[in-house]
Amino acid sequence: MTRIYLDYNASTPVEPSVALAMQAATEAYGNPSSAHWAGASAKRRLDRSRGHVAALLGCLPQEIVFTGGGSESNNLALKGLYFAQGNRAAHIITSAVEHPAILEPCRFLERLGARVTYLPVDFTGRIDPTDLESAITPDTILVSVMHANNEVGTIQPIEECARIARSRGVLFHTDAAQSVGKIRTRVNELGADLLSVAGHKLYGPKGVGALYVRSGIGLEPVIHGHGHESGRRAGTESVMLAAGLGAACALAEDLSWTQRARELRDRMWNALRERLGDRIVLNGHAEYRLPNTLNVSVVGRAGAEVLAALEGVAASTGSACHSGRVELSPVLRAMGVGAAAGMGAIRFSLGRGTTREEIETTIDRMTEIVGQP
Ligand SMILES: Cc1ncc(COP(=O)(O)O)c(C=O)c1O
Repeated sequence: MTRIYLDYNASTPVEPSVALAMQAATEAYGNPSSAHWAGASAKRRLDRSRGHVAALLGCLPQEIVFTGGGSESNNLALKGLYFAQGNRAAHIITSAVEHPAILEPCRFLERLGARVTYLPVDFTGRIDPTDLESAITPDTILVSVMHANNEVGTIQPIEECARIARSRGVLFHTDAAQSVGKIRTRVNELGADLLSVAGHKLYGPKGVGALYVRSGIGLEPVIHGHGHESGRRAGTESVMLAAGLGAACALAEDLSWTQRARELRDRMWNALRERLGDRIVLNGHAEYRLPNTLNVSVVGRAGAEVLAALEGVAASTGSACHSGRVELSPVLRAMGVGAAAGMGAIRFSLGRGTTREEIETTIDRMTEIVGQP
């Protein structure tokens, strides 16, 4: 069975240079908080890694908090800000197409008394900044809108959202777990006050991430303990995982691979469209979309069934089968995609390692499975 990996939005392999950096970091075995030479050596490694993350985001090293991944970064941003201010009934604005790592903390805070507005999206998955403008109230403490969507790849008008939030004195967070390493993510260009990174989406290891917190923003930690990470996240830092994230961020400075990914992705869509006609539709924005992401719906078929027939091709379906019933993904539902198309959604996400042969094979297999028009 040929194995083709087209699920890079789910996770990426660790790049060899990243693995080497992690291996090298095991030499620095001291506790980075210790005052002796072994601690100092670990601290130097940690600082170097923090510097790489900061360089990629265009911020100061001291504005980077290492976390256990994208979910933790999002939790720290939302809960940290909520608990740092006194108002239990505070208002948070987010979008209807966020990852569960945003939606679930929001629901948790709602149970504590917070009010959350979930901005609607259009058929391409984008929010309308004017909806954001009118949703802000004097109680709004935070706007959190993802940079790029994990399922359909749609890129949100982040700069405009950040500008609106800032003009009203409201902090702006963006979940950039899917965009870091695929498109530019400089915090000052985006206008973000907080930004989440997930290591395993950019050829780094799993279980490590970062949260950018603009200087001067007060955050209550989610994990209390010693004052690690400038008092923002207790727990002895994993020098090795941080080294992996740092090396991955250094690698991500070069986005040239995304041009090839975009060409292959577009080749795939054009060929599928040509061969399968209206049996296939594109989900997401045609232009404002991650260069590696192609989410297509096979109309009238279940995505899981098509994926099973594509055996050996690792990709994802947005729909889930619960007790024999196919359920549309909440993202596609929010986009207003109908059941017949939505249940047939398949996400192909390309990466640094994707070859033309893999794409051609996948096109041929899809054509066989879905049938000639
Ligand atoms: C947009 C987005 N946010 C957050 C996460 C969670 O990241 P992690 O798996 O590192 O917790 C993911 C992972 O799928 C994601 O795609």
